[in-house]
Amino acid sequence: TDIWGTPDVLRNLLQVYMKNGSVEIPGLREKLPAGHGLAGKTPLEIMSACSQKRMPSGFMNRFSVIGSGTSWHATLLAEYLIEYMARIPVEAHYASEYRYHEPALRLGDVVIVVSMSGETVDAVESIRQITRHPEMGKSVLKVAVVNNSSSSLASECDLVINVRAGAEVGVASTKGFSATGFVFELLSLALADECDTWSADTERSSFVKRLQELPESMKEVLDREAKPLMQTSTDKPIGIGECPLWDIGCQNVLAQNFIFLGRGCNFPVALEGAMKCKELAYIHAEGYPAAEMKHGPIALIDEFMPVVVVCPRADATYEKIKSNIEEVKARNGATIAITEKYNDELEQLCEYVIALPETHEYLMPLLAMVPLQLLAYMMGILRNNTVDHPRGLVKSVSVK
Ligand code: AGP
Repeated sequence: TDIWGTPDVLRNLLQVYMKNGSVEIPGLREKLPAGHGLAGKTPLEIMSACSQKRMPSGFMNRFSVIGSGTSWHATLLAEYLIEYMARIPVEAHYASEYRYHEPALRLGDVVIVVSMSGETVDAVESIRQITRHPEMGKSVLKVAVVNNSSSSLASECDLVINVRAGAEVGVASTKGFSATGFVFELLSLALADECDTWSADTERSSFVKRLQELPESMKEVLDREAKPLMQTSTDKPIGIGECPLWDIGCQNVLAQNFIFLGRGCNFPVALEGAMKCKELAYIHAEGYPAAEMKHGPIALIDEFMPVVVVCPRADATYEKIKSNIEEVKARNGATIAITEKYNDELEQLCEYVIALPETHEYLMPLLAMVPLQLLAYMMGILRNNTVDHPRGLVKSVSVK
């Protein structure tokens, strides 16, 4: 249910946070109040001052982006997007680690904590680790990216960005992750505009065009691949190959392990795809940067190890990741490629190809995430798991 709601969530975000082609996130351009160490400046001014474009040679303030579980994967995605698009140094941190180490922050640094519930104790304690130092707490911009603006985390931050995903039925975050990633796409666009880091106007216009197409592209994938889940007894049976994801799920429902590979901004997608496989199908899975496979995991590859590779042609490292697929194939590994439509060479090379509509390389992570969420969901259903309430998991780890 949550996965199917994602295109509408993104449409709503475009409607609420984009005005006349520019990003208008509430609070982004409102001056911080008196008493704050950065009083009188707006969050957008503080954030964009961290950009290499603004400080070509001098010291650059940085972003620390913090989260747990799926929200940590979103912080990794944010690191790639904000560095790519706005030339701002970003460090992603596990909240469970950050809350126990002495923060080393300077006046003008930006701390963004991501938590859908806004109640994950590690996330809330990460902000408190900073505000325990009164001077430090007032001299950095504290931002909460949440799905609940009245949460504990939101109450402790200077700027609250609501991802507006709506209530998530499932314990496992699906539309929440996609909405958070989309909000970071919007924030990166706002920062790139403010810092003027686009290499050419055409680059910005092609990104915005693909951003506005994304909900429809996502719905196209869902409508095609989720058909087996919508079947009624009177519907015509679905043939093999009509919905590759369902075929993959049926073929690998008894797999003991999966490996998910991605490069660049698709590496966090590989991690999140592995997380969903564990959470929903109860199948062990690991996510890796594709090139890291040769430093260990390659020893695990055989005919019993399905390898899912996010490898869009739009990605600058496409040729490299294709050679990773060839290495898997040479060891009889079964490869499942997530790529754009009409990729004949991967059709030849891989056991399965999940074909996606074309999109911008920086938007591909959000589109590629949908089939990975669906695949985990399908294998969970086929294994008769309680997919909305997976064993041992809770919606928010808000206990000490
Ligand atoms: C989501 O699929 C996971 N079940 C879980 O890791 C979750 O992302 C994590 O607990 C963080 O939750 P939050 O976003 O509410 O802070």
